[in-house]
Amino acid sequence: MPTPLRLGIAGLGTVGTGVVKIVQRHADLLESRCGRRVDIIAVSARTRDKDRGVRLGDYEWEDDPVALARRDDIDVFLELIGGSEGSAKAAVEAALESGKDVVTANKALLALHGQALAETAEANGKVIRFEAAVAGGIPVIKSLTESLAGNEIKRVIGVMNGTCNYILTRMQDASLPYEDVFDEALKLGFLEADPTLDVGGIDAGHKLALLASIAFGTQVNFADMEIEGIEQIRIEDIEQAADMGYRIKLLGVAQLTARGLEQRMSPCLVPATSPLGLLDGATNMVVLEGDSVGTISLRGAGAGEGPTASAVMGDVADLARGFRLPTFGQPAESLRAEQPASSATPAPFYLRMTLRDRPGALAKIATALGEAGISIDRMRQYSHSASDAPVLIVTHKAQRRDLSLAIEGMKATGVLVGDPVAIRIEDL
Ligand code: HSE
Repeated sequence: MPTPLRLGIAGLGTVGTGVVKIVQRHADLLESRCGRRVDIIAVSARTRDKDRGVRLGDYEWEDDPVALARRDDIDVFLELIGGSEGSAKAAVEAALESGKDVVTANKALLALHGQALAETAEANGKVIRFEAAVAGGIPVIKSLTESLAGNEIKRVIGVMNGTCNYILTRMQDASLPYEDVFDEALKLGFLEADPTLDVGGIDAGHKLALLASIAFGTQVNFADMEIEGIEQIRIEDIEQAADMGYRIKLLGVAQLTARGLEQRMSPCLVPATSPLGLLDGATNMVVLEGDSVGTISLRGAGAGEGPTASAVMGDVADLARGFRLPTFGQPAESLRAEQPASSATPAPFYLRMTLRDRPGALAKIATALGEAGISIDRMRQYSHSASDAPVLIVTHKAQRRDLSLAIEGMKATGVLVGDPVAIRIEDL
């Protein structure tokens, strides 16, 4: 009779209770698929006396997640607490050092401490699995580490924060300003306790840093990622981008270039009819480009109890079956400390500005662009009654730093009202 795989679960929030429900509901299914039982032995959470809608009476209780992690009667420690420091980090370290494998949904922890934790895991002959940390229920880590193992990965692109995609989609559909939709999302409970993690692009950036490490065999490096959130996106940009055939998405892009590792998380214009352009609401999508497979798109729920618990259980099932991979798909010591790219790959840019409507104003703007070596692809001036003219320009491919120089030049002309808005147009 095979021995059961014994779990200790720390964190009984949405994801933790979702995992308990799956283990209880699918005990027989898991046993048939894994060839052994998957049993929960002990759990831990901040508050014991709370109705979580699941039976917990059969499990041992630990107030302290570190004590749970060190128990001798568990094989796998499930860290579902969250946060890059504090008890989540201490408990994961304790679990690895006391000989447990770890399954976690904690993107922040791994984005900031992934290399050190992967080394600790390997030093102790253990593994860390984290499918649930990136894009919820979408099996993107399995795809990269297993199915695409025979590919050189060219590029990883993703919309990996459902809350931001919800906000941008809702702004477009209801013609509402950012502030109104942010308040709606807050009331709906979509935002993280610290909303900056979502709208500031940090949560999605953590996810991209993890994918980049696996895709390119590099040490996870969140610190050097270029990150911009969606807080500055105005309804005018969404509407005018739509008018030119684009949608605005909080887009993550990672690629290895001759200039180093490029990792960007920022609002971008994408063609409205592209798969990413058509991605509405809180859904996530990750696009992977491999030298043999070509381009594949994975789409699905990036958050929520069922999808995230589903991803956790996929990792648990692997461990129950005896399938073990190093944390980032290859031994931690073989991951390269790649230099961050000195500049992003050139791209066309969308530029929105307001000009004082007087003779020669537009010519001065065109000259500022020309002097920075930037060529105009398309230009549109909207009819207006006031003395100020709204103007849109789409450039040919340009370096961001040249565009910044052009914007400085534009400001010096004295024909601008306010600052121009510049948004990258991503080549998909
Ligand atoms: N807050 C995230 C999102 C889910 O909105 O996609 C957790 O990473």
